[in-house]
Amino acid sequence: MTESKQVITLITGADKGIGFETAKELDQKGQHILVGARDQQRGEKAVEKLEAAGVQATFIQLDVTNKAQIAAAAEKIKADYGYLSILINNAGIAMGQHQPASEMSTETMRQEFDVNFFGLVDVTQAMIPLLKAGQPAKIINVSSNMGSLGLATDPNSRFYNVSSLGYQASKASVDFATILLSKELITEGITVNSVNPGWTATNFGGRSSESIKPAGMQDVAMGAAQIVKMASLPLADPQTGTFTENEGTLPW
Ligand SMILES: NC(=O)c1ccc[n+]([C@@H]2O[C@H](COP(=O)([O-])OP(=O)(O)OC[C@H]3O[C@@H](n4cnc5c(N)ncnc54)[C@H](OP(=O)(O)O)[C@@H]3O)[C@@H](O)[C@H]2O)c1
Repeated sequence: MTESKQVITLITGADKGIGFETAKELDQKGQHILVGARDQQRGEKAVEKLEAAGVQATFIQLDVTNKAQIAAAAEKIKADYGYLSILINNAGIAMGQHQPASEMSTETMRQEFDVNFFGLVDVTQAMIPLLKAGQPAKIINVSSNMGSLGLATDPNSRFYNVSSLGYQASKASVDFATILLSKELITEGITVNSVNPGWTATNFGGRSSESIKPAGMQDVAMGAAQIVKMASLPLADPQTGTFTENEGTLPW
């Protein structure tokens, strides 16, 4: 990247998994990483590990379901840097295991929506003034192939028979946020894109770090690769309103 001012990148849910890996990779592109984490201890530990690996990282407490924390994080970024270059909305959960839509509890779905969708929208709305101050700037929403309506309705897709209503609907909603925000923010110099990491060996959905990686599950570097690619494009790159993965473009 050839930007003259330091690229400041906030990643939500960056204390582990794909978010942490993304932080590690992006430092190599000269970005200063704000490590968003809801748990102070886990966040500070992640920063320690990143710094030991030579990454320029700063912890920022950010539970995406906590509006007061979101406001405080925006205030802190404003005071410390005055702007934000890249927002990577990565924090996400999958609570409901695969089960028929007719049986899934709406309580479970609400929890998934609170983090995956409402949390993402609240963080984004709070950061938009900082992104405007830093423009050209970008928002990258970490979505999922499981949220693709195109794949869910394609009998030839392996997602045709997948059923996890809360998670899938929350990620489809993330994509809708991408579509609408990309159109709204194009005149402000802010691009908005969705990325699917793909099935990745993390703690996602309660998976243990010790469990054996099943065939087809990729390692975390591959899971972060498309996010890193999108975040490494020049800030002024015009690509907006897309949904991509390592293999190319996905149907909405
Ligand atoms: N792994 C996959 O197969 C896969 C596939 C497609 C899409 N994705 C998406 O990729 C993203 C990252 O997932 P991952 O695989 O890295 O999972 P992960 O290892 O479980 O990491 C999820 C991250 O989100 C954070 N988080 C959860 N609730 C939060 C909240 N309320 N506020 C702030 N942070 C919160 C977690 O923090 P704590 O450490 O505090 O729990 C953690 O840092 C998610 O959006 C997920 O939907 C993953």
